[in-house]
Amino acid sequence: MSTASTGSRIALRQVADLPCPRGLPLLGNLLQLSPTRLHLILERWAEELGTPYRFQVGSIPITIWTDTELIQQIMRERPHRYRRYQPIEAVLEEMGCNGLFSAEGAAWETHRRLVMQALSIPNIKAFYATLSDITQRLRTRWLRAAERGETVEMTDDLKRYTVDVTCALAFGEDPRTLERDHGVIQEHLERILPSVMGRINALFPYWRYFKLPADRKLDESLEAVHRYVDAMMARARERMRDDPSEMPRNLMEAMLVQQQQPGEHGGAPITDAQIRANVLTILLAGEDTTADSIAWTLPYLAADPALQTHLGEEAQRVIGNAPVCPDYATLKELDIFEAICIEATRLRPVAAVHSFEPLEDVVLDDVALPKGTRMFFVARPAMVDAKNFVDPQRYDPWRWMRKGEHAEHAEHAGAHDVRAYLQFGAGPRVCPGRHLATVEMRLALSMLMNEFTIEMAIDPAKINEVSAFTMVPDTMPVKLKKRVRAAV
Ligand code: HEM
Repeated sequence: MSTASTGSRIALRQVADLPCPRGLPLLGNLLQLSPTRLHLILERWAEELGTPYRFQVGSIPITIWTDTELIQQIMRERPHRYRRYQPIEAVLEEMGCNGLFSAEGAAWETHRRLVMQALSIPNIKAFYATLSDITQRLRTRWLRAAERGETVEMTDDLKRYTVDVTCALAFGEDPRTLERDHGVIQEHLERILPSVMGRINALFPYWRYFKLPADRKLDESLEAVHRYVDAMMARARERMRDDPSEMPRNLMEAMLVQQQQPGEHGGAPITDAQIRANVLTILLAGEDTTADSIAWTLPYLAADPALQTHLGEEAQRVIGNAPVCPDYATLKELDIFEAICIEATRLRPVAAVHSFEPLEDVVLDDVALPKGTRMFFVARPAMVDAKNFVDPQRYDPWRWMRKGEHAEHAEHAGAHDVRAYLQFGAGPRVCPGRHLATVEMRLALSMLMNEFTIEMAIDPAKINEVSAFTMVPDTMPVKLKKRVRAAV
């Protein structure tokens, strides 16, 4: 048994000793859970019961944690001592999406190396011209909407943006969803994660025995997405046959090259199904997370015209009259555009719940956790705790800017514990897409503030947080107004 506690002899608690919200016999807390509001329910119980606590799905206890230090430790002790929550792998496997995110052990290590390389800083730097093109298409779409006085559903446009970027970078193909109105792959992708959420939290896997209309729709979407990926794979093979020089040029090609080689340690080489699963993983992992992080930033900007003015001036200083940030090197002058998004996700965490299971019996804090105990880490409490972030409920992007600079905004000296911001995870499984995501934040938000002022088209209090595997806004309608600048 391993221990995470450093204290001397303390009486151990068992999982059954942890506080639990009152539930029903046999069902436990099942009827109090709603998959789409899961993070909100878990946060409320954490406030009432403290942490760790447990809730019961039938006879299965699920333990809930909010302590950053413990979770940092768990995240670092992967893949050998902890794994992701097992139902995630089972549900994604059934959907043909068991790639890097859900794989464990040796399969995880092989895929991790390939994906890390594909999303590395040098690769993103080399990809900048395409990133810039795609951001210009987003600009064109928004200019048209501003001209016509249309309200823009930002979650939709931003997902088109992130799908185009991810496909172009990882698979060498740009689906150009930003230029089309309907029939885009993203319409199918967006059905998948909410279904994953519902299924991993279900008491009984009913869909294996009968299908509801929503399950049939999901099947249609999975089929469409698998067909799409297969066609992409076939085209990549053709390109590689026609032009075998300088391979591999992207993740898809790297996986296809790997397929030609004998498996590591004499094992089987990777299969088409594994490649397909990884392609889908990257698409799903790169789409919502980044798009919704950017979308959650918008109400904070809309509520603060002075901040918008400042951001507009800053964007103008760096970008000038270019349509988007002109080159990769200049991105480093756009720190504030990353900070406005990171600060928004501190208050509105897209990764609201992280889940784990120990692979052996462990002691965590003073609790004995048998192998396989289900564990959820709820992210927001630590990020809105004054011990970690001074004046925690206040939206204050300047807290993320380097000390010394921006002294005029430094009224908030005080707690700033970046270890409590676990939106990209930590340790060996830390998000491999975080650099790409922050580049997208900088590019899209600096273009937005250089070109437009924004207003929310509905009362922001009416925008709901929805647990859909990631934590997404149910809508983000925005009115864009072209900035008028005095001629120089
Ligand atoms: C703001 C945007 C994003 C957020 C908040 C985010 C968040 C996360 C989190 C919390 C994890 C789990 C980390 C852990 O267990 O320690 C993760 C893993 C992952 N992310 Fe991201 N992510 C973002 C963008 C992206 C992008 C753009 C890509 C790829 C294009 C990506 C690909 C992945 C993959 C493949 C994994 C699984 C890594 C593994 O298990 O080894 N993510 N992400």
